[in-house]
Amino acid sequence: MKIQIITLFPEMFPAVMDNSMMLKAQKNGQLDISYIDLRDFGIGPRKTVDDTPYGGGDGMLLMPEPIFNAVETAKNNDKQAKVLLMTPVGSKWKQEVAQNLSSEGGLILICGRYEGYDERILSVVDQKISIGDYVLTGGEIPAMVVVDSVVRLIPGVLGGETSAQKESFSDGKTLEHPHYTRPEDYEGMKVPSVLLSGNHADIEKWRKDNSISSSE
Ligand code: ADE
Repeated sequence: MKIQIITLFPEMFPAVMDNSMMLKAQKNGQLDISYIDLRDFGIGPRKTVDDTPYGGGDGMLLMPEPIFNAVETAKNNDKQAKVLLMTPVGSKWKQEVAQNLSSEGGLILICGRYEGYDERILSVVDQKISIGDYVLTGGEIPAMVVVDSVVRLIPGVLGGETSAQKESFSDGKTLEHPHYTRPEDYEGMKVPSVLLSGNHADIEKWRKDNSISSSE
């Protein structure tokens, strides 16, 4: 999957994207991630990307021109790519949406900043995404959340082919059962004996009985 991130802070990404599973996905050719610095599309000698809102009000807004030009550059690299805008007023990010996007060939993620963006940029956006009902200082952390949760669902990225299907939320509402590893007794806290019994039917039943349903 080709992922292009439009951001004013490309240097925020490598710590997350160039480690662990995301690094492995890149090395295996399952993820091709690149960054488009919105500042490069800024206007005038100061490379301005933001301006005050018409009608007054606090804060600054991302101007349309730098965003349109950055998206055009990204689209020239990947014509079919879906354009996602990170914004607290987007539709709520869910496992099901991650699953749907994991079969896309390419994604372009726009990271918002400041108080928001000029509404006209929505004409080049396919999907607005919020990672939760709280406001962050920018769309970079949401973009990392989106990339991580999508890329790990690309077949072959996780070690066990089945682990992404079996886990929490993959059916939209069930959480996983509790897990235990060694030691059997840690300072008096014991592993449930059924898990040591070797009886697979009993273990399966225990796991089912101890799976918690999510509130949504
Ligand atoms: N930008 C700021 N807050 C955000 C959120 N909760 N989700 C997505 N983008 C954001």
